Amino acid sequence: MKVQTVIPAAGMGERLGMSRPKALVEINGTTLIRHTLQGLSSFFTELPAIVVFPETFYEEFNRACRDMNVLLVAGGAERQESVRNALTSLEADAEIVILHDAARPFVSPDTVRAGIEACREWGASTLAVPVSDTILMVNEDGFLTDTPDRRQLWACQTPQIFLKELLLSAHVRALSEGKQFTDDASLIRYYGGKVKIVPGHGDNFKITTPEDLNYAAYKMQKECP
Ligand code: CTP
Ligand code: MG
Repeated sequence: MKVQTVIPAAGMGERLGMSRPKALVEINGTTLIRHTLQGLSSFFTELPAIVVFPETFYEEFNRACRDMNVLLVAGGAERQESVRNALTSLEADAEIVILHDAARPFVSPDTVRAGIEACREWGASTLAVPVSDTILMVNEDGFLTDTPDRRQLWACQTPQIFLKELLLSAHVRALSEGKQFTDDASLIRYYGGKVKIVPGHGDNFKITTPEDLNYAAYKMQKECP
């Protein structure tokens, strides 16, 4: 089955608080989007990876993705819209879609392969890790309301991997019903799809805050000095 990779990279990185979109921030001299593409390069040798960029930054993304088998597609205000825009550019013969956030540069090819296998068997998969902290539900007044059983709680990661037709039809429904989701596995599940959880690694964390960025720079320096 032919696989096509989609990388949502159209967010502005407000929590990171830099003067440019998060995917263009440099870590040890290389942009975040390029680090993430390098980690996934074995999955877009056949069909191009679709990188979703913030509309006014075409030139910068074009430079960051130079010499790579990449198609640039303009994103939207929300992640879901960015993904939807990419779906309209998928190749006709793609059968499986790998969705991976630009903000996770430490993705390991082995876990992507495990995700693809789970997708082949179940139609949809997401990487996730069991949470180690106890999670508290808190109300608007700042009081504890509930403590969900930690054994059932997993933190969502990407890649999330789907049969193309399943993903397309769920996005069409979400658009027509005006429903918003922050990840595609939750969207698929909402419309009745089965999503297999593939255990990932804490290493594959999402760069969200300045602390995450510092840690990523330290880790890359240590791994490839
Ligand atoms: N993303 C996107 N389009 C959007 C919003 C987010 O393609 N409109 C992408 C981001 O570029 C990122 C991934 O979705 O690779 C996960 O989003 P997040 O980590 O929240 O990134 P940002 O939205 O950029 O960060 P923030 O929420 O702090 O602004
Ligand atoms: Mg965001």
